[in-house]
Amino acid sequence: MLSTEQNDRLSRVGPGTPMGDVLRRYWHPIATVGMMEPHCAHRRMNMIYGIPETNGLRCPYHGWLYDETGQCTEQPYEETEDPDARFKEKIQMKAYPIRELGGMLMAYMGPMPPSELPMWDLYYMDAPRDIGYAVVPSNWLQIMENSLDPVHPEWLHMYWRNYVVGQMGQPERQKAIKKHELIGFDAFEYGIIKRRIVEGGTKEDEEWATGHPVLFPYYLKSGSVSSPVFQIRVPIDDTNTGYWWYRLYTEESGVPQTPQKPEEIPSTTHQYLNWTSKAHPSGKCSTTTAARTSSPGSPRVPSPTVSARTWADPTLASSSTASS
Ligand code: FES
Ligand SMILES: [Fe+2]
Repeated sequence: MLSTEQNDRLSRVGPGTPMGDVLRRYWHPIATVGMMEPHCAHRRMNMIYGIPETNGLRCPYHGWLYDETGQCTEQPYEETEDPDARFKEKIQMKAYPIRELGGMLMAYMGPMPPSELPMWDLYYMDAPRDIGYAVVPSNWLQIMENSLDPVHPEWLHMYWRNYVVGQMGQPERQKAIKKHELIGFDAFEYGIIKRRIVEGGTKEDEEWATGHPVLFPYYLKSGSVSSPVFQIRVPIDDTNTGYWWYRLYTEESGVPQTPQKPEEIPSTTHQYLNWTSKAHPSGKCSTTTAARTSSPGSPRVPSPTVSARTWADPTLASSSTASS
């Protein structure tokens, strides 16, 4: 049993906390290209309302423009009054490096130089993918702890589910439950592999032989070989977590591989990764702005079959399965 102090040390993610500093040394999935601090350097306008333009994000208050490095590149009124003004060169907002990986955009918020991008297999496989996103009102560590609990799907996802749909008068939605007969855990270089055998199974089964890796700090790889999924839990602050599902569909999965419609891909400015900023005095979190900007220097992953669904709006989150 962890003491309160030990628990706080592992779960708190604010700037300057021990775990917050460790997590900032990893690349985190975000939704759009370019990420900077939340408030304009001029009069502190919330850049969540910024206007994404070809060359950066424009503050809606007086029109200052910032490029993807956070450098101010235009100050329209100031330059009208004095065309030789160079004041904008002194205005630099905090910004973070962004890279594209397997259809995802990853941000790095730790000390320079950045760590290497993760080499996890799903990001490099050539298969259509489906990316879902939701905000879970929970500390990130609680979700990871649940990832290492192999028995709960039998009861929470199945037994309780069957009870609920039965109560709803929809017994046809009840599913057969398989009892857990053996669970196992193996620590390895990148985390822990979780294994299970359910009723009627053997050690040859995928869920035992391959198992589901829980990767430090916050990945779970689950699903099946034909349709594997990463569940990624990015801390937003101490009590909220951005939850990504990144699922691949190989030909063996039998899932029809239809192209995604453009209108299914939101590309608006939205708030995310609040944990880059200090907590708001009200107790609510402040925001960091992630906006679509042009970034000619950022490498693109050659993956023509990627059909990324980056849900900016949690209400559009996919109906993927919960952690298991
Ligand atoms: S507050 Fe952003 S340009 Fe004035
Ligand atoms: Fe679960």
